[in-house]
Amino acid sequence: MIKIAPSILSADFANLERDIQAASSADYLHVDVMDGAFVPNITIGVPVVQSIRKCTDMFLDVHLMIEKPVRYIEAFAKAGADLLSVHLEADHPTRIAESLKTMGECGVKKAVALRPITKAEAVLPYIDQLDLVLVMTVEPGFGGQAFMEGQLETIRQVRAIIDKYNPACELEVDGGISPQTAPLATKAGANVLVAGSAVYGAADIPGAIQALRSV
Ligand code: DX5
Ligand code: ZN
Repeated sequence: MIKIAPSILSADFANLERDIQAASSADYLHVDVMDGAFVPNITIGVPVVQSIRKCTDMFLDVHLMIEKPVRYIEAFAKAGADLLSVHLEADHPTRIAESLKTMGECGVKKAVALRPITKAEAVLPYIDQLDLVLVMTVEPGFGGQAFMEGQLETIRQVRAIIDKYNPACELEVDGGISPQTAPLATKAGANVLVAGSAVYGAADIPGAIQALRSV
């Protein structure tokens, strides 16, 4: 079954609780953390995740677009994240491995994320221990960008790696997901769809979630 993860990056931050409740029929809540270094934008940090945790029971899928994420794994886990994803481009492989180990020790689910430039094979050293792989279908940093169709091949390749080495692992796509692009991503092998503008730009938020789920 396809899971939908609304991204609160496109929500109204002054009415975050209202906008989170509006998306409560979704499967995960996607939280984009940006540090102004790994990506040009700055969004939210640990205290906001802590506050979100207090106002919802939803599964918090926290996407860390930050340099050297190993420094913050424990803090985001303690703040209430259910899953953390670290970018493979954000640190040396030994420190990515250390990040995943810390996630395990903190009891949160483990994910790695791939910028569009990163090849599917980059997940191979970690695949046996992952709960989710996140394939970016835009350059990370901003909501509302166009879906990169060239990433469909990466999605297919990651799907093949998951099926071979760790079939329980989920495959999430993030960026430019709409009712038009969602079927392309799921046909290529994705089972979790992040959607920011397609959910929060809609007048009927539960309807938009349902529309994406049933593509
Ligand atoms: C982009 C973020 C995405 C973003 C997606 O760097 O990681 O999660 O919110 O927004 P849409 O769905 O509008 O492309
Ligand atoms: Zn994201």
